[in-house]
Amino acid sequence: MTHDPHPPARTLCTCHGIPDTAVARAISRTGTRSLAEVTHITTAGGGCGTCRPEIATLIREITGKEADWTPGDEPLPGGDWI
Ligand code: FES
Repeated sequence: MTHDPHPPARTLCTCHGIPDTAVARAISRTGTRSLAEVTHITTAGGGCGTCRPEIATLIREITGKEADWTPGDEPLPGGDWI
């Protein structure tokens, strides 16, 4: 059995059906630490909000810095944040 360097994407945000790979790509390409910006780009995190901690973890893993996000922040309709 060989090791697959590219494991299949899994759905990170079930509200919008956004895979973790799309979120990771948005963070990598923009270098953003803003969870609101990731939501604006991908729509992930713009619904119930339960995936936001996981998005914040991805931001930390990819950028090496804490995500710009306060738990409890709520998105406005359309994915923009207060
Ligand atoms: S699972 Fe991402 S907003 Fe609900």
